[in-house]
Amino acid sequence: MTAPKAHADALVFFGASGDLARKQIFPALHAMAAAGELNVPIVGVASSGWSGEDLRERARESVLAHGGTDDEAFAHLASLLTYVDGDYRDESTFVRLRDALGGAKHPAHYLAIPPSLFGTVIAGLKGVGLHEGARVIVEKPFGRDLESARELDVVVASAFPEESIFRIDHYLGKDEIMNLLYFRFANSFLEPVWNRDHIDHVEVTLAEDFGVQGRGAFYESAGALRDVVENHIFQIVALLAMEPPAYQGYAAVQQAKESVFRSMRPLEPSCLVRGQFDGYRDEEGVAADSDIETFAAVRLFIDSWRWEGVPWLLRTGKMLHATAGEVMVFFKRPPQVLFDDSRDGENSNYLRFRLSPISEIALAARVKTPGEEFTGTQQEFVLHTESPLERAPYERLLAGAMAGDSALFTSRGSVEAAWRVVDDVLVHHDAALPYAPGTWGPAEADALAAPWGGWHQPAVSPTPSPTATASPTAQTTAQTTAQTTAQEKS
Ligand code: BG6
Repeated sequence: MTAPKAHADALVFFGASGDLARKQIFPALHAMAAAGELNVPIVGVASSGWSGEDLRERARESVLAHGGTDDEAFAHLASLLTYVDGDYRDESTFVRLRDALGGAKHPAHYLAIPPSLFGTVIAGLKGVGLHEGARVIVEKPFGRDLESARELDVVVASAFPEESIFRIDHYLGKDEIMNLLYFRFANSFLEPVWNRDHIDHVEVTLAEDFGVQGRGAFYESAGALRDVVENHIFQIVALLAMEPPAYQGYAAVQQAKESVFRSMRPLEPSCLVRGQFDGYRDEEGVAADSDIETFAAVRLFIDSWRWEGVPWLLRTGKMLHATAGEVMVFFKRPPQVLFDDSRDGENSNYLRFRLSPISEIALAARVKTPGEEFTGTQQEFVLHTESPLERAPYERLLAGAMAGDSALFTSRGSVEAAWRVVDDVLVHHDAALPYAPGTWGPAEADALAAPWGGWHQPAVSPTPSPTATASPTAQTTAQTTAQTTAQEKS
């Protein structure tokens, strides 16, 4: 088994008739075609009894539904697309796939299918030699706990060397997430204060104001801890908490991130609040007595020299008050109280990374209010970054995997270390607490954050800087807000 260095000369995607293909893969392929980056045969595989024409029709619907308007690019994509229909357990499916691939020597196989089918498909590929010289792209969730992730690793590793395995966490393909790494290590002013001596606590919120959107059956096997905390949020934590990479290159970043996952203290039930929105049990595919959490709040510690004692308050949920992704890094208050209004814990400086729906970084500092009194307000210095040319995460990730570039993918060590952190609480936990749609989750989650002043609630409609979208190229604009910041604490 040797890892191919060449660009993939074909793309195969299993699960061609599924949801992921419709929502992400076709739009990404279309965008790649429009950018002139797609010139290899693409084979969709599924067991839906479709024809090639059905697949192209699905691709057309999907591209149109996602705003694709470039007819020439679609025609090019359609000309590359072929379809193989068949049962993944049947060897003849893979024989037909091999025929469809013609002479391709380095195909990339994308498993856009439930993890329970990974083993079957990999065995099928191996059975006809389609793993040789190939790459495999696997979707999250990679397993459903530590044991199943390890089992899966063994299965995948039996056919592909580690350098040929591309584990997707689409958050790693987002610009605002990549910017966490860049902002930390492209600036020198942060490093002296980026540690337990200066940082009081960190909060990460990934909130959604919608429900499971027809994915009830999937969600019943996942829940918020597996679906978002263990991967997307932990990746954000790793980028914020990692040591500076020892050298330039993605391998050093992977190592530094993996060390963070290994330093995370395994969660105990007392550090977790699980919630379930009222109405979840009425969703299609959801058990009438389901205890699956649609909300999770976690208090995490990282046992490292840099972070010992600093709590990381993490939460995510569906049907919450707003759709918002935000990181708040709260600094310690000045050691001596010189001004009366410095007593209040809410007045500490912070760095705020708004991840969605806009991309923004803000530094909050106190500024004296004009007048005789020594009192002030908290004001933000805001950097806003936006580009209409930004690539969608799946486009970036597919292009990366096909080029053999592992920079935006997770390693086996990181995946296993992350599962180790949540493994115990996946089984040992209190019942999910009900919460009303439109709130910030169950009130009990407040207790987790109470010693640090409660959760910061992200602004519902952040206002981007007016000049930010004026140019077709990416740009960053800065402004200071003239008013007291909208830092609300619940
Ligand atoms: C997916 C989860 O991985 O991430 C979804 O399965 C979640 O439940 C989604 O909604 C969030 O991604 P994004 O890019 O919309 O923030």
